[in-house]
Amino acid sequence: MSVQTERTVEQSWAHYDRALDAIPMGTQTHSKAPREALRSIEPACIVRGKGCRVWDLDGNEYIDFRFGMGPVTLGYCFPPVDEAIRKQLESGIVFPYPHPLEAEVAERLIQIIPCADRVRFLKTGGEAMAATFRLARGFTGREILLTCGYHGWINTMRKGVPEAVRNLSQSLPWGDVTPFEEAFTSHPDQIAAVSVACSYGDIEKGDPFLADLRSLTEQHGALLIFDEIVTGFRLAIAGAQEYFGVTPDLAVFAKGISNGMPLACYLGKAEIMDRVKDVIISSTFGGDTLALAAAKAVINFYTTEPVIDTLWVRGRQLHQGFHEHCQRLGAPAKFRGLPPLGMLTFKHSNSSDLLTRFQAELLKRGVIPYSVYYTNFSHTEADIQEVIAVMGDALETMANEALFD
Ligand SMILES: Cc1ncc(COP(=O)(O)O)c(C=O)c1O
Repeated sequence: MSVQTERTVEQSWAHYDRALDAIPMGTQTHSKAPREALRSIEPACIVRGKGCRVWDLDGNEYIDFRFGMGPVTLGYCFPPVDEAIRKQLESGIVFPYPHPLEAEVAERLIQIIPCADRVRFLKTGGEAMAATFRLARGFTGREILLTCGYHGWINTMRKGVPEAVRNLSQSLPWGDVTPFEEAFTSHPDQIAAVSVACSYGDIEKGDPFLADLRSLTEQHGALLIFDEIVTGFRLAIAGAQEYFGVTPDLAVFAKGISNGMPLACYLGKAEIMDRVKDVIISSTFGGDTLALAAAKAVINFYTTEPVIDTLWVRGRQLHQGFHEHCQRLGAPAKFRGLPPLGMLTFKHSNSSDLLTRFQAELLKRGVIPYSVYYTNFSHTEADIQEVIAVMGDALETMANEALFD
């Protein structure tokens, strides 16, 4: 796929500029905001998706690697999932008492996720992480949290959060247990839980980091919480706990469980989860049947088809093809991390500009990149081959301008 010379994203941006008058940042998701530096290049508005492809407001077609920022793992408009949603819609969406799907999906999750004795549903990943924090504090009677990685806006201790609350949590880096040990020493019997989301660029450090955190939390009577919002249904069905063989006390799954329908779940040991009643975690839409019908179809599909294998195989193909182009052209770039969620990085005095330029070259040729390249069950071998060719072409353009010198 070469540069599409006729291509324009004018309508997309006109719509986005209009949206800015009604919506701060023009979007509900910070990472979806199109970049001003890529104004004539990046699509600012997507209108349709099918399989691994999306179309923007100007009619341009792309092979996608963002997938709604992760949740669409099987493909856009994936027939078995959409059919389940349509069928449920004919009977209604939310009801005055629980619907059977709530227990059915919970039981399926308990079968496939090692740490799950009990499950509860909410709508967003950050909200479900907040629920685990509430439970951990209620269960242990302690107040301090040690966190690692992004757990959603609700849990981000920035401006707008009272200082007294901010002081009750400490964000520590991925990969080394030492700062966590020091925190436990400084705050004896005060730490309720350690929460951790894997860092994708150096995810391999999960071994032995996660096992070390497991021993440390056990030693100090604190809970271990895994944020499996991205790793779940991607690295393995049961996420990092399955891949690294470490079982936390509580975990959150969200993005991959319903192929884009809004659903999150927090799950874990019965004696902790059963505290939900007295700490009070309750939500009107937690039992929404459309998302649960989608989750049931997704779990059935994952447990009967080689979805995880496909995410790995396509990722390996992508990484290998890209690395061959880098070698050929002397490009200072590589995929870091594991194939289903590799991070494409440049190592150069000008890395950030090179990355933006590379992404622009991909967009011009019909590929939507992201910091993490989410592989998808709907990417075929031929789709990935097409993307590798685009990446080679993009790198060659940059090499011809001596950008890698
Ligand atoms: C690891 C991780 N945790 C939590 C969240 C927050 O999820 P949500 O945006 O559904 O609240 C995200 C979202 O990107 C995430 O990647």
